[in-house]
Order: sequence, then structure tokens, then C-alpha cells
Amino acid sequence: FTINWDASSAQKGGWDSFMDKEIHEDPTAVADTLLGRFNPNGDLNLDEVHIEPEVFRQIDKIIIVACGTASYAGFVAKYAIEHWVRIPVEVELAHEFRYRDPILTPRTLVVAISQSGETMDTLMALRHAREQGSRVLAICNTQGSSIPRESDAVLYTHAGPEIAVASTKAFVSQVVAAYLLGLYLAQVKGTMFRDEIHQVVESLKDMPRKIQWVLDTQTQTIARAAKSLITAKSFLFLGRHVGYPVALEGALKLKEIAYTFTEGFAAGELKHGPIALVEEGEPIVVIVPSSRGRDLLHNKVISSIEEVKARGAFVIAVAEEGDPDVDRYADVVFWRPTCPTLMSPLVDVVPLQLFALEMAKDKGLDVDKPRNLAKSVTVE
Ligand code: G6P
Repeated sequence: FTINWDASSAQKGGWDSFMDKEIHEDPTAVADTLLGRFNPNGDLNLDEVHIEPEVFRQIDKIIIVACGTASYAGFVAKYAIEHWVRIPVEVELAHEFRYRDPILTPRTLVVAISQSGETMDTLMALRHAREQGSRVLAICNTQGSSIPRESDAVLYTHAGPEIAVASTKAFVSQVVAAYLLGLYLAQVKGTMFRDEIHQVVESLKDMPRKIQWVLDTQTQTIARAAKSLITAKSFLFLGRHVGYPVALEGALKLKEIAYTFTEGFAAGELKHGPIALVEEGEPIVVIVPSSRGRDLLHNKVISSIEEVKARGAFVIAVAEEGDPDVDRYADVVFWRPTCPTLMSPLVDVVPLQLFALEMAKDKGLDVDKPRNLAKSVTVE
């Protein structure tokens, strides 16, 4: 008999590429990262990190250090942790952090986020933080790698091996792990009611199903949009609040694997510069916040869409299912199911990962091994 597959395609589980496979593992990456982190009564249990609750109670500032996609996961978590725990959270690119004079005390918790656990810039940043007497907690996907080994504590993401250079399922698992850390801090510091924490946890547990919905229902629209925009020279990505780091991550994905010039912006910054770039036909991807209650955040982003539409932009919106306003202003919509604002990055990033993948495939590029990039950058 003949075997018509090779070892590498077997590892891809029938998908065309590792990136394809890994994006489709977003739901499991989220579910697995949540597993085993709760007591039977629903409270969070992070005993595995081996830091005494009393020490956590004393923490008065968090600095997240990371590079690339991991830094955007940290940026998303900043919004949630500051809201839940009421302590300042700074997010810093590891290579910048190390070469200035950051204010670190024994009550500062430095969180180093890394998929590989081997990124040299992040490793050097955590060494610097420990030398100054701060505690370092790693959020990492690779058991026994250098970053968790050199940290005081580790919270593993359970995304499974990520092979494609562009990070996808690791991102969603990093957001979940950082959220668990935030909720745990809220629990030990008492900054949220128990019921509130349980409610957030329930929304988190619902996210794999919601991500699956995006994968099941939006892929064709996304593939069609990518095909129609293949000749576009550049893309702008806009978001506000947690949509801002998602916009940065969407821009990074397209840059990394489709070699398209992209820029991500905070939507509110548009009028302070980027709007000068908008001309007829310029594709602009906009992450639209929930339309429920049509709150301020939603209205502001809709106004940004109106501003760029008025200047001839081609708008691709990532929006909540049934958002009545977006349908009017966007040329293409990638829908996501309804979810609380702080959960939305976990679904909003998925169409952007797929969009970059489809664009790179249409261009005939090697999506798993983009030129000039390495999966893990082990030099400074
Ligand atoms: C490289 C990879 C990126 C990744 C970054 C951080 O630049 O190409 O995909 O986001 O490193 O990697 P880490 O393993 O520390 O998460």
C-alpha cells in the first residue's frame, strides 16, 4: 500500500499550513489555559505559581515586559487588570525597558510574557527587574524554557506547540493567562466581589464557543475580502480601548506574513495625523466595540468610520453581530458574537489572523516561514 502524506503534513493535521491549524486551535488554546485553575467553589486557584497570597496582596504596580505579539497580549490585559485590581499596569517592550531606568520596588510585579520562553530581550528585561529586587512572574507556553526558569514564578499557557513563525493561538492563551492573574489579584486584594469574579470567569469559559463561531461562519467572507484586496499597497488598522491593541496585532500579522505595509492606530489619534494618509480606496480595518446600549465607545468608533469613509476609504469592520450602524458605514464586515467588552479581543483577533493568512496564501507566500523572521529571537 502507499502512504500519500509525509510526516510534516501529518503534523499539520490535514491543514495546508501550521498557521491554518494553529488559528483553528484558538478555541482549545483558550479552554486549555483555563483548565484546572479553579477550586470546586469557583474561586481562582493559582497555588501553582508558588507566591504567597500575602505577597500578591502587597503588589502595588505591574509592569508587563514582552516583545511582538506577546506585548500586545499584555497591552490587552492592562485594560482588564487596571479595571479589576485598581493598580497601575505598564506595558513595555522588553528591549526598551532594559535600557532605561525603570522604577522597580519589591512591591512591583514584573510579568514577562513569552510564547517560546527564549526571547533574549525579554530574558534580559527580567534579569534586570530581579537585580532591582522586583518579583518576576512569567507567562509562558514552553515548559522548562529559560524565561520561566529564571523567573520567581510561572503561569503556563496551554496553547500546545506553536510552529508557525507568526504567533496566533499563543496570543489568545496569553490574554487568558494574564486575565487569570488579574482576577486572582482582584480575589486576594478584594477589589471585586466574588460574584463579579465568577461572572467574568463564566464569560471567559464561554469564549472558546464564540471563537469557534467566528471560525465556522466568517472564514468565507474573510477569504473573499483578502482576495479582493490583494493588490492593496497598505492597510491602516484602527481600534479604541481593548480594540487598540487588537488593531496593532492585526497590523502586525499582515505585515509579518503578507509583507503588506500596515500601521495600527488608536482610533482617537486619527485626527492627530493618520487621517492625512487616507485617500480614495485606502483599506482601513476598524475594530468596532459592542453596539449594546450604543455607548460612548461605540459611537466614537462609528464617528471615526464616518471620517475615513468621507475621504473615500474602503472600510473593513470587525463588529458585533447585528450592529445596525456598522452595516451602514462599512464596505465589508467580519462579524463576531456578542460578548462583554473585555472579552472581545479574544474573538476580534481571530478574523484578523485569518485575513493575514488568506492574504499571504493568495500571494503564494510561505505562511509558516515568512522571510527575515525567526520564531524565537535568541539574540539581543
Ligand atoms: C518573534 C516572533 C513573534 C513573537 C515574538 C515574541 O519576533 O516572530 O511571533 O511574537 O518573537 O516571541 P515570544 O516567544 O517571546 O512570545
